[in-house]
Formats: sequence, structure tokens, C-alpha cells
Amino acid sequence: MEIQLWRELLDPYELAVNEIIVKFDHLIKEYRERGMYSPIEQVSGRVKSIPSLLEKAQKKKIPIEEIDERIEDLAGIRIICQFVEDIETVVKMIRERADMRVKREKDYISNQKSSGYRSYHIIVYYQVETLQGPKEILVEFQIRTLAMNFWAVIEHSLQYKYKRNMPIEIRTRLMEAANSIIKLDEQMSSVRSEIMEAQNSFQIKAAIVSEILNNIQNIYRVANKREVIKIQDEFYRIYESNDLEELRMFSQQLDIITEGYHAQAISLSGVEHIYRNNTI
Ligand code: GTP
Ligand code: MG
Repeated sequence: MEIQLWRELLDPYELAVNEIIVKFDHLIKEYRERGMYSPIEQVSGRVKSIPSLLEKAQKKKIPIEEIDERIEDLAGIRIICQFVEDIETVVKMIRERADMRVKREKDYISNQKSSGYRSYHIIVYYQVETLQGPKEILVEFQIRTLAMNFWAVIEHSLQYKYKRNMPIEIRTRLMEAANSIIKLDEQMSSVRSEIMEAQNSFQIKAAIVSEILNNIQNIYRVANKREVIKIQDEFYRIYESNDLEELRMFSQQLDIITEGYHAQAISLSGVEHIYRNNTI
């Protein structure tokens, strides 16, 4: 097959990867804007490169015309979570989505691979719109914790270095490292509620602060400068006191002040309108 045709074959996969990343990034944003903990820490994706696609097809003796049915990871999405518990949440989210349909799940967390690899894989059908109309393609999701990812990335680069001849001694050490990763994830889970509480209060504070800054910026346009400086100083004082409740109250007061200016601005523009039209 010509290189150009390979590119065309991979085009819908590129679209799918881009779309899915936008959608999941948006979910993270929605969680954070609501001051909620996001079970997804990071999302990334890639389309398989032509050389590694050729290598895989050859290795698995897959004829070219069957590539898009039989190679399930032409489009790959990686979702990284903080805690093992989050993986379950993300898996449920994917199962319930209306824009994808699960083909197969592979639980390499309960069934760790002999290499030591752990991750939850889901292969889904996903539809993209192309010039030739709708096209349904396969997308592979790999869902894993930060710690599992750390291990997988390093092991992958060692696999690459040694090709298929990784010395047994390195294999053994990687297996030991994989066991440490399991322990690390368990330990992180045991302090999970503490970590989540801290993250939550940080996110709530960030959301309130961003609303306050927005309001101050709006007031800045209409109020007299001395008043804005007074408001700003008050904000800095409360911010430094680290009192979330006081910060929340300040934000509410600021909302009322902003509303007041807004109403004033509307009535002023009404007066202007009357003047301009010589109605009085
Ligand atoms: P390939 O492993 O890709 O040939 O396909 P498969 O049909 O055997 O699927 P599998 O679920 O085993 O692997 C899919 C993907 O998971 C791989 O392409 C890798 O990205 C990842 N993966 C699987 N096993 C390992 C492993 O031992 N180490 C690392 N680092 N990644 C792995
Ligand atoms: Mg494999």
C-alpha cells in the first residue's frame, strides 16, 4: 500500500484521538470548576505510527486489508488516575457513555501480566464523521494510576532497548519494582481520604478566588479606584488568613456589589438613551 493510503487509513483515527482528548479534558475541567475531585488526572493519546503498525501486522500475520479490524490500538487513549479506586469510576464512565460502545475489556489489574504490567484496557467502537460519511472505528483505552504509568513507561523503554532479549536479571528487577508499585498504590489508597480532602479544599478555594478576581476586574471598570483598592486590600487580608468561610462570605458580598454597579450602569445607559433621543 502507498504511504499516502496509509495516511488516509489513519486519518479517522487521528480525528477520534483528538475528539476524545477534548471530551475527557472537558470532564476534568467540569469537575474542577465545581470544586469536585476529578477521578481523571490526565488524558493523552496517540495514533500508532506507520512503522510500528507495519511491524505489528507482520508479527501477527495480519493481511493489510484486515488491519483496521484486527489491530485494536491504532487509536490509543491513556487515562491516568491518582488512585486505584478511580480506575473503577472511569471504567463505569466509559461503559455508560453514549458516544462509544464497549467491544472488550481486559483487566490487567486483577490479572497482572507476566511482565508485571498492570492497567485496565477497554476497546470501544467510536464513530467519527469523515468526508465519506460516518465511520465506526476501534479505540483502545488504557486506564492506570500514576504509579502504574511510571512503571509501564520505564519498562516500555527497556523493552525497546533490549528488543526481545531483555536479560533475565533486568526482568527480575522489573518484577520486583512492579511489586513495589502495588504496595505504593495500596499505601496511597490508605491515605486517600486525607489527600482528597486537602485537594478538595484547595479546589474550592481556587474556584472562589477566581470568581472574586473576576468580580474585582468587573468592578474596576466602573467603580472609583479608591474603592477598588479597598476591596482588593480586603481580599488580600482574607486570602492570607486562609479562612474558607470568610472568603466565601466576601465573595457573596462582592457579588452584591457587582450587581449594584451593574444595575447602576443599566440605569445610567437608560438616562443616556433618554438624553440622546431628546425625550426630556
Ligand atoms: P500488543 O501487546 O499491543 O501486541 O497487543 P495485544 O493484543 O497483545 O494486547 P495487550 O492488551 O497485551 O497490549 C495492548 C497494549 O498494552 C500494548 O500495546 C502496550 O501499550 C500495553 N502493554 C501490554 N503489555 C505490556 C507490558 O508488558 N509492558 C508495557 N510497558 N506495556 C504493555
Ligand atoms: Mg501484548
